[in-house]
Amino acid sequence: MSTTIIKNIGELVLPKKSTRALKGKEMDELLIVKDGMVVIEDGKVIYSGEKTDDYTADQEIDAEGKLVTPALVDPHTHVVHGGSREHELALKIQGVDYLEILEQGGGILNTVEATKKASFDELLEKASKNIIRMIQHGVLTVESKSGYGLDLENELKQLKVSHALEEKFPITMKHTYLGPHAVPKGRENEEFLQEMTDLLQNDEIKKLSDFADIFTETGVFSVEESRRYMEAAKEAGYDLKIHADEIDPLGGLGLAIEQGAVSADHLVAASDKDKKALKDSDTIAVLLPGTTFYLGKDDYADARGMIDNGGAVALATDFNPGSCVTDNLQMIMTIGAIKLRMTPKEVWNAVTVNAAHAIKTDRGTLDAGDDANLVIWNAPNHEYVPYHYGVNHASKVIANGQVVFEQPGLNL
Ligand code: NIG
Ligand code: FE
Repeated sequence: MSTTIIKNIGELVLPKKSTRALKGKEMDELLIVKDGMVVIEDGKVIYSGEKTDDYTADQEIDAEGKLVTPALVDPHTHVVHGGSREHELALKIQGVDYLEILEQGGGILNTVEATKKASFDELLEKASKNIIRMIQHGVLTVESKSGYGLDLENELKQLKVSHALEEKFPITMKHTYLGPHAVPKGRENEEFLQEMTDLLQNDEIKKLSDFADIFTETGVFSVEESRRYMEAAKEAGYDLKIHADEIDPLGGLGLAIEQGAVSADHLVAASDKDKKALKDSDTIAVLLPGTTFYLGKDDYADARGMIDNGGAVALATDFNPGSCVTDNLQMIMTIGAIKLRMTPKEVWNAVTVNAAHAIKTDRGTLDAGDDANLVIWNAPNHEYVPYHYGVNHASKVIANGQVVFEQPGLNL
């Protein structure tokens, strides 16, 4: 048995453990302990709170008066993919729209080509670099989607890489089958969607996926098509997610709530009626403001309205090679604060407990019994991280009680 004490914590952030995501006003509640301490035994938290003399340790880590929080959770990424699309940046600057690029066979379909061409090892090596960067930025739980294969062989390849990442790194991963992510050139929507729906029944896809997801958008899949897919997915035993109302107000959020989806993601164009309905549903709004930023749009998801009306909100990177090319969740925390007008406490809950609930995992808290996944930040308090943006504030990232990343020399 080995005991580690993290002492001299200036601010210890303890999001509230609950059987469901925090909603409405609860999102602005965060227990902040000044002069705190965390005690870890064999990789698990056995105490977190005010400093006490009740414990003796084999090892001490001095937090030097800094901020300590649970490790971050990124509940929406497309981390496994081939290639990159930097040429789209110039197109975007010329005013070519995201859906126009897709319609011309670029965008997601460009990444599908690159992902098909890449071997399992190549995809694993590429995604490993992003996962390492995520860990370095304080993230120890990641959701990862398929959706760049669009056929059995390549969807499976992506899901297998996603599982291999979990073997390779000290992280928790959740895996999502996103077969209906785009319609290949020359294929009919209906017929292609049926093919992707049939794959829900494939034993390997089933075994490797926690969630089934779909891109409900103009030129991709309609609400009616998405409903059919979601019903089939539920029937086959999947939990549901949806890319909803990202660009056009099709009503994907309403569909998510109707179908009891665990999360509805994007929601920039969601209707007022659907946003209000979040309050009485268990569906979590996973907002991806880095995507709005990167698509160069001015209208952001209405986080304020969703929270003020009693909904549950989480934040994620949506890391992917087209619409949001960052694996730095700290950056998203700043955009959440500045553009979504979320308070720092709401932002922290959105990237810890609520993000964990959005992917049905019990991460994001630091209570006795939890795995000791936490971050010592080069920051004096929780407000500092979203405030000072575009740089990495993680000082020590601790996974199961072990320091897995350390960034020296940045003491404030
Ligand atoms: O969440 N919107 C659909 N899928 C991703 C983008 C994927 C891509 O552009 O490669 C998203 O934004
Ligand atoms: Fe996405």
